[in-house]
Amino acid sequence: EQPACSLPPPGTPPDEIARLLASCRACPLWERATQAVPGEGPKNASIMIVGEQPGDREDLEGRPFVGPAGQLLDRALADAGINRSTSYLTNAVKHFKWTARGKHRLHQKPDAGEIDACKPWLLAELSSLAPRVLILLGGTAAHSLLGPGFKVTANRGRIDAPHLAPTVIVTVHPSYLLRLPANQAEEAYKRFVADLRMAITESP
Ligand code: URA
Repeated sequence: EQPACSLPPPGTPPDEIARLLASCRACPLWERATQAVPGEGPKNASIMIVGEQPGDREDLEGRPFVGPAGQLLDRALADAGINRSTSYLTNAVKHFKWTARGKHRLHQKPDAGEIDACKPWLLAELSSLAPRVLILLGGTAAHSLLGPGFKVTANRGRIDAPHLAPTVIVTVHPSYLLRLPANQAEEAYKRFVADLRMAITESP
């Protein structure tokens, strides 16, 4: 039997959140993951970016967005004029959920219970950072903070959610762009960059 993890009290700084997160047992995903992957970035970041969950590379390295989706995100952030190193990057779910496929670990989408179990960590990061801009990448991040009924494709772009941040932007996840056929990829990438660019052009 594992000891219950302690959820972070209000006002906990990000480095302390990361320390407490390491022993989280709030859902079963920790058992098959290498480690919890905390958010990364300066605690005074004005832009916070939320993905789904760590992928294979992130799980091994313990850092968010270092695999293929992260490389695409890096390029798109640069094209949008956003500096990754001054942003805070995190995930809605902090452990990698996977199933074995031969010798590979195949990503699986976190379910509603896992998203809910991890939400206190995301809320703790959000209240500690209090970013000017919050960017939600894809359905899982949107479901966590905006509810399971939120449809990213129908509502992408800037949305009104002042309880989360003065500017909230919802867009697709970079992994979705990686899966598109070549003839759709360029247009979709441009829309993604345009969504990200709102983070620096839209004032609250
Ligand atoms: N996809 C995510 O949503 N987050 C990561 O950290 C990596 C890939």
